[in-house]
Amino acid sequence: MSTEPLFSLRNRWFTRSVGATIVIFVISFVIGFIWLPSVQRDAQFQGVWNAICSAAGVPRSWYSSSEAPVTPTYTTSTVELTPSTVPPASAQSVGRGATLALQCTMCHGERGMSEANSPNLAGQYPSVIYKELHDFKTGARTNAIMSPMVVNLTDQDIRDLAAYYAYLPRPSAARVHEEVVVPEIVATGAPMRNIAPCASCHGGLDTKVGSPWLNGLPAAYIKAQLQAFASGARHNDISEQMRNVARNMTPDEIEAAANYYSASAK
Ligand code: HEC
Ligand code: HEC
Repeated sequence: MSTEPLFSLRNRWFTRSVGATIVIFVISFVIGFIWLPSVQRDAQFQGVWNAICSAAGVPRSWYSSSEAPVTPTYTTSTVELTPSTVPPASAQSVGRGATLALQCTMCHGERGMSEANSPNLAGQYPSVIYKELHDFKTGARTNAIMSPMVVNLTDQDIRDLAAYYAYLPRPSAARVHEEVVVPEIVATGAPMRNIAPCASCHGGLDTKVGSPWLNGLPAAYIKAQLQAFASGARHNDISEQMRNVARNMTPDEIEAAANYYSASAK
């Protein structure tokens, strides 16, 4: 039996195994803490030290504090929508809204059902009308026709208009033609492209506050709005909820969704 001590630099088994362990450690460290994190394509994320901190999960700001926070180049919506932003309206409010709405009938129809390609307002959720009118007023949503219409409306006028239109009967979710099938994009969305079913926000499966009632809207209007969200021309949706959906839709899906929602039995 050998009398050589185990933990000795002269024991070559000892030196080789410790040496191999150290080499494996250094290689894994370089791969895991420096190489892999450095492959991230983030312009702000530079330097070996940031790479190590990020891999180790150590909080460290790699944004220099002198940099101004990123702000959008356009006006964003200032409306905060909660289920209680627009509480149930009084009968007086509906009455005042009906009078104010006389200025709107030319385009939105006498009872909120548009004959032209303007959106219907009858039965629209009051929170939606409230938000859209405020967005036109602040410039978060722009439209050559609507923007001048709202300049002189006060918050109370807007609440009254929302109360009046919400009070009118909304177009039904039933279809004119029995054979209209629900397009896949409406019923199930496109999970691989991160699109939730339209019906999960817009009614059908569930409704989310601030999501308009789409049934019965003119197909041309729906299509134009989806294209505007996709291009970013319309950008008043809070947290880009609709832009994220629309920019991942194919032209065929936009067509199918517009045709489906517009085919409501009035
Ligand atoms: C001259 C025609 C015209 C008049 C008058 C008009 N609107 Fe509009 N309205 C439109 C058009 C067109 C749109 C769609 C704008 C777009 O494409 O972004 C619209 C959009 C809206 C929307 C957004 C609907 C949605 O589903 O997003 C609301 C709310 C609205 N109008 C309310 C009113 C009210 C209230 C009045 C009266 C004070 C009024 N409008 C007067 C043409 C008109
Ligand atoms: C995560 C919830 C969500 C999903 C999913 C969603 N939407 Fe929306 N959508 C919204 C919200 C919120 C708005 C209102 C944006 C704003 O504040 O103006 C909106 C607005 C719209 C409008 C404009 C309506 C108007 O009256 O101006 C259309 C058209 C629309 N969505 C179609 C669709 C279609 C088609 C799908 C499915 C492919 C879809 N949406 C999926 C939340 C959603």
